[in-house]
Amino acid sequence: MNRGANGGNRMKTVVCPGSFDPITNGHMDIIQRASGIFDRVIVLVAANQEKRGFFTPPERVEMIRRVVAEAGLQNVTVDSDEGLLVNYIQRVGACAIVKGLRAVSDFEYEFQMSLTNHKLLPACETIFFTTSARNMYLSSSIVRQVGKLGGDIAEFVPACVYQQIRQKLTGGKEQNEGGLTDEKSGIHPQ
Ligand code: PNS
Repeated sequence: MNRGANGGNRMKTVVCPGSFDPITNGHMDIIQRASGIFDRVIVLVAANQEKRGFFTPPERVEMIRRVVAEAGLQNVTVDSDEGLLVNYIQRVGACAIVKGLRAVSDFEYEFQMSLTNHKLLPACETIFFTTSARNMYLSSSIVRQVGKLGGDIAEFVPACVYQQIRQKLTGGKEQNEGGLTDEKSGIHPQ
């Protein structure tokens, strides 16, 4: 029986928060694994004051919804919020925050956020999933950097996200062949 952040018994709902700018194969791996364990998973595009956005929050939400639908994850929903994460957790009655941990370099930051959230809302637990070895190196900022500088990011993100990034970087011009070519944009079709 589960007692969540608001107390009481309920389905096990967890929130996977992040910037998701954009969602990567690494994020999807964590979401898929969480979806196999918990009753309900809410992927939350949350505000990170330290980061400037590449995609807008509504664009990120839409991309994640597509990827989740393509993966057939029926117990996963996608939302966005601009406030404190713990307030959102309380509002939706989630029992925990789920995050992926890649390497020691992630630990300090994640540990600090976990302790802060726990201080703000003592009933709120943070559960860390060890990232799959194949995604150890992957992050949204790496994807953005490599894409902007002409590297091939097709294996870093889901196929529909790859198309969205390509459109963003070329301003959609590749569709009418009036703008950057794939070669110039640095992103190559799968
Ligand atoms: O993918 P990121 O950028 O590492 O995710 C960080 C995120 C968005 C989860 C974090 O900044 C967050 O929780 N933002 C919501 C606002 C908040 O509650 N900030 C205090 C966190 S201790």
